[in-house]
Amino acid sequence: MSISFNSFIKLGSNRNLSKAELSQILDSLRIEQVKYQDWKDYLLLSLGKNSQKKLVKKLEQTGSIIKFGNLEFKVGTSEKKELNNNLTKIIDGIFLKYLPKRQKQLKLSLNIRTDDDTQRTELSKEIRKIIQNISQEKRFPVKVLPTKKETYELTPFDYNKENLPTRGIELNLFVVKSKIYFGPTRWVTNPFKDIKQDEERPVRFFTHGTSIKLARTLVTLANIPYDGILLDPFCGTGTILIEALKQGMKVIGVDKDQKCVRSSKTNLHHFSEKYPSREKMKAKWRVQLHDSRKLTDAIQKKVDGVVTEPYLGPFLKHLPHFEEAQMTMKSLERLYTRVLALCKSLLKDGARIVFIMPEYNYPLKRSVYPNVKAICEKTGLTTLEESKFFNIKFPVEIGRKHNVVARKLFIFESK
Ligand SMILES: C[S@@+](CC[C@H](N)C(=O)[O-])C[C@H]1O[C@@H](n2cnc3c(N)ncnc32)[C@H](O)[C@@H]1O
Repeated sequence: MSISFNSFIKLGSNRNLSKAELSQILDSLRIEQVKYQDWKDYLLLSLGKNSQKKLVKKLEQTGSIIKFGNLEFKVGTSEKKELNNNLTKIIDGIFLKYLPKRQKQLKLSLNIRTDDDTQRTELSKEIRKIIQNISQEKRFPVKVLPTKKETYELTPFDYNKENLPTRGIELNLFVVKSKIYFGPTRWVTNPFKDIKQDEERPVRFFTHGTSIKLARTLVTLANIPYDGILLDPFCGTGTILIEALKQGMKVIGVDKDQKCVRSSKTNLHHFSEKYPSREKMKAKWRVQLHDSRKLTDAIQKKVDGVVTEPYLGPFLKHLPHFEEAQMTMKSLERLYTRVLALCKSLLKDGARIVFIMPEYNYPLKRSVYPNVKAICEKTGLTTLEESKFFNIKFPVEIGRKHNVVARKLFIFESK
């Protein structure tokens, strides 16, 4: 029997990272089982109504998910009349919903996804006809927005630029084998918010800072309860700390560099000032100048999770000689072993450490990286092997192809 999907997720460019993050959110919503199908850069899902609602609320806090929507009906590709009736009913409902808002014009965007160009043209004509008819009947002008040629859908930039969340809606029609799914988009990430937040930060690292989006994903993966304490023992300019504060956590940052501690404090102070309850917000964070190899001299408080992008070795334009790389990785392995062991001693039971490690990749598939097995043996930590849903194996690769230093995301657990 084929499953009927009622929701979809558009994954980010790093699909594994996106799936790992989504898996963690679904797990935190206490969902036991998820029926899903991979389809192009989407995941089609079957979720209860309640879970859908809770998921939409959580998506604003994610870093790697692009879009969420509902799939309201499914018909066979040959059931033309059925398709027409269903489309008319739903599009009519949309016009009715937007009419009372008395906007000048309803904005619609069509995301028609099929591998067959002729079918796309036909479906597009069909929907546009229905839209025009209803628009004339209701005397409510409509504008169907043009989409990008290569993707046939609005980018998150265009979606937000056109103000679709308030001025209209995106309609999705997916042809999956011999079935057509149809439904509206409910949420799309807003890249303008991140750009604004990034530009407004008083201090930024251009070469070795963590991106806001990645920081958000790392915080999700740590699964720290609301009001729990997050520790970043290599906090730099405080990107991870700010994302955790936004999610209601308390945070502790440590860095051995005076300039970094000052930068973190400036950024966190600036962030807190934006809140009406700024004094309460200021009481939720602490940044300390300290070498994390002696972490427990500065921090004794138990924490609910550690999230960090540590020092990944020197900033490189080219990979070093293989032997030099081996030495660098050995010294990083010593640093990580020490700091991870101290972090473990501060962790509450069952809490996680989300940690990034570097890897240098050489020709002939030779690579150099810290020995994680040895780290686990020395610290007594274990690594999470796989995500609860979607079969994502850890570590997950992050970063881009052109980066000299590859990065891998590990989740350590203390059992
Ligand atoms: C990759 S950066 C962290 C980036 C940070 N997440 C951000 O977005 O700004 C690594 C940081 O680790 C700090 N660091 C290096 N060795 C350290 C040590 N032994 N103890 C504490 N901090 C250390 C560096 O000063 C640097 O700020």
